[in-house]
Amino acid sequence: MHPAKALFKEKCAQCHGLNAEGNDLLNAPTLASQSSLYISEQLHKFKKGIRGGDAKVDAVASLMSQQAKTLQESVIKLLAQYLSKLEAPKRGVVENESAQAGEKIYQKQANCISCHGDYGQGNDSMKAPKLNILSASYIAAELNKFAKNQRGLSADKDPHGYLMVKTLKDYALSEKNFKDLAVYISTLRKPKEEKK
Ligand code: HEC
Ligand code: HEC
Repeated sequence: MHPAKALFKEKCAQCHGLNAEGNDLLNAPTLASQSSLYISEQLHKFKKGIRGGDAKVDAVASLMSQQAKTLQESVIKLLAQYLSKLEAPKRGVVENESAQAGEKIYQKQANCISCHGDYGQGNDSMKAPKLNILSASYIAAELNKFAKNQRGLSADKDPHGYLMVKTLKDYALSEKNFKDLAVYISTLRKPKEEKK
């Protein structure tokens, strides 16, 4: 058994699910198969309060920040490694007009592919997370947080988070666009090779 498995069950599973599949009711994201580099970087941000540092700004993310403050460096490494090896949950895929509108924004208009890849596979060298494992509900929630200055606080404090803030501003994306993007991204489940 991986040394982080018991720890995850004890400290994280009540929100993220036993298999790290996530829980939309709590806005807790899927962690299974996320990049280990991204997971550990986010745990450091939560620990330092760069993400979720102020309960008045974001009460939900502050729950996660409190969790991260209890984690030692060695434990963060083990958790990130363990989670990145788990299989992402299977989800039903919705293909509709919203997904088509989102596809145009993602692939062309806002060039999301330049950092997250054309099927949302992520890119460690840009510190851009995998998106194709996340639920539509979580994706829309996070885009709103970047737009409302709850995440990616400033170019100094959080340069990578700020890239998202800047992208959403530069392309003047709206809440409706976020919804469309979220629906589209949640259709990008499979690696390209497996896509029919
Ligand atoms: C009380 C519920 C709760 C617990 C317990 C919890 N989390 Fe979270 N976690 C969340 C929420 C909610 C978010 C999303 C925060 C946001 O909206 O920005 C999150 C986000 C994360 C992220 C960021 C993922 C991403 O895609 O950006 C990581 C990594 C993470 N949690 C790991 C853990 C680990 C590891 C543990 C156990 C040590 C843990 N969490 C325990 C609620 C929780
Ligand atoms: C310049 C590179 C870049 C571009 C362009 C970009 N992103 Fe990101 N994105 C990032 C980085 C880096 C992060 C991680 C931010 C952090 O550390 O908090 C991120 C995070 C996210 C997250 C949060 C995922 C999670 O697990 O919490 C979502 C959702 C997202 N991006 C969607 C998009 C969409 C949709 C677009 C196009 C409108 C886009 N991104 C364009 C770099 C980029």
